[in-house]
Amino acid sequence: MSLREVAIAPFEGQKPGTSGLRKKVTVFQQPGYLEAFVQAVFDTAPELQGGTLVLGGDGRFFNREAIATILRLAAANGIDRVLVGQRGILSTPAASAVIRRHRARGGLVLSASHNPGGPDGDFGIKYNIANGGPAPEAVTEAIFKRTQTIGRYRILDAMDVKGVTMPSSVSERMLDQWIDQVGEYRLGGMTVQVIDPVEDYAAVVGALFDFDAIRRLIARPGFRFRFDAMHAVTGPYARRLLVDMLGAPATSVINAEPKEDFGGGHPDPNPAHAPELYQAVVVDGTLDFAAASDGDGDRNMILGKGIAVSPSDSLAVLAANATLVPGYARGISGVARSMPTSRASDAVAAALKVESFETPTGWKFFGTLLDAGRITLCGEESYGTSSDHVREKDGLWAVLFWLNLLAAKPGETVLSILQAHWRRFGRHYYSRHDYEAVDAKQAAAALDRLRAALPGLPGEKIGALAITAADDFAYRDPVDGSESRGQGLRVICGEQARVIARLSGTGTEGATVRLYFELFESDPARQNDDVQSRLQPLIDFAEVRTGLREITGRTAPDVIT
Ligand code: G1P
Ligand code: ZN
Repeated sequence: MSLREVAIAPFEGQKPGTSGLRKKVTVFQQPGYLEAFVQAVFDTAPELQGGTLVLGGDGRFFNREAIATILRLAAANGIDRVLVGQRGILSTPAASAVIRRHRARGGLVLSASHNPGGPDGDFGIKYNIANGGPAPEAVTEAIFKRTQTIGRYRILDAMDVKGVTMPSSVSERMLDQWIDQVGEYRLGGMTVQVIDPVEDYAAVVGALFDFDAIRRLIARPGFRFRFDAMHAVTGPYARRLLVDMLGAPATSVINAEPKEDFGGGHPDPNPAHAPELYQAVVVDGTLDFAAASDGDGDRNMILGKGIAVSPSDSLAVLAANATLVPGYARGISGVARSMPTSRASDAVAAALKVESFETPTGWKFFGTLLDAGRITLCGEESYGTSSDHVREKDGLWAVLFWLNLLAAKPGETVLSILQAHWRRFGRHYYSRHDYEAVDAKQAAAALDRLRAALPGLPGEKIGALAITAADDFAYRDPVDGSESRGQGLRVICGEQARVIARLSGTGTEGATVRLYFELFESDPARQNDDVQSRLQPLIDFAEVRTGLREITGRTAPDVIT
């Protein structure tokens, strides 16, 4: 077995976005592309040498090949031990749990989240640091810089996934077989430990909730619930926790087999991409509680009879009721939300007299606050919620939290819990409109038009609402002082309403324009209206001020959540 140094020219555009480097599979399949990026990570993170690295992904197409390549790169770059999920599987929250529990120095999470998979789909890779969370911007910037000058990668020869026999130190078995079995192997000077992908995660999450109470809820005659794993990574996790540990019927976890192309679906748990579940629960009311998770298991959608829970509301409800859950019985230290997420959780934090924070979009901005103990819970409008138990958002955790709340509030439903919450704190009507695969120049032009108008907006009105402030969101991390600018355009009407516009940082085709709308309603008599109708004046304002329809020729958003 020999160590090779392979000369390469830098690839353009290896810039991590909101959540790691995401590109088409075909881009990642270019010779040297994955190698160059991973080598840039290793060059940027010398602390990995002599330490433990965690490796796994959401099981999408190209996951196994990527793992084989990364193992060979790791062995040639002085990594001491790699913990790899069996069959190459680790959900994003599980990867975070494994990094923390095993005191690894970092991890590589292979996922493009909810983006479609398969040979024509997307692939992604994200570097997580020793706290278990996504690398902060300073690190991702340094990685990007390194990709622009890189001239070689180091790799261990002698291993070919496609069928050539393995070196003797791995028992001459092909990688494709040996990552399927839990055990320890040697690869060059490195130890590869294939681990059960669920065990660490189940131990971390299992310690937080009242499993006896949830078990009784699930066994209650007439309580009907379903979890949709969308043929993505959460299936094995949901089976272990919901079926094996909580006694739910096996049939309550659907689409539980992870597939390389997610069964051809779009594993994004929201009403637009899980229409059958939405119809069955929210419209037809055939189930009391249903939930779904995304490609890599970090997102969650919560549905109840007659209600799809807005993720912003979900964060607020969890914060307001946290002391009902054993893991948070002593109370929470604070709550953070991403800027476009509604201000529902701010209202709860104020009532609880704990700190609240508004961060830029992307989980990486919560890490410092969690590490410093300033917040216990955090979330994003994009179906992401979590706590300080890991440093990623966590889909199944949110589902268990809601089940624990239902168990602790006999006679309540998802809808009645929300309505009581709105009566107490007021309701933040909320929606996000996405215009996908827009020509990048046109998308930038629409944002530029609104940006140029910002200074003149305060004093103007949107219907009856007076605009009080308008800016391009900038953030100064209160823990480490780092600055992030250009994080989205905000038009604010005091505490009453907000309109936000920003460009997605996770897409792989053209640009995606996201418009976010929020309207506060304190009158309980007006808290059960149609969401889009209530937001219409804000929607009209955003479309006129960005000129989005005129510039792009689009007549409606592609996705409304
Ligand atoms: C999107 C979401 C964001 C989330 C990210 C990763 O990013 O909006 O909240 O953190 O996916 O799941 P965007 O495409 O908007 O940059
Ligand atoms: Zn995800």
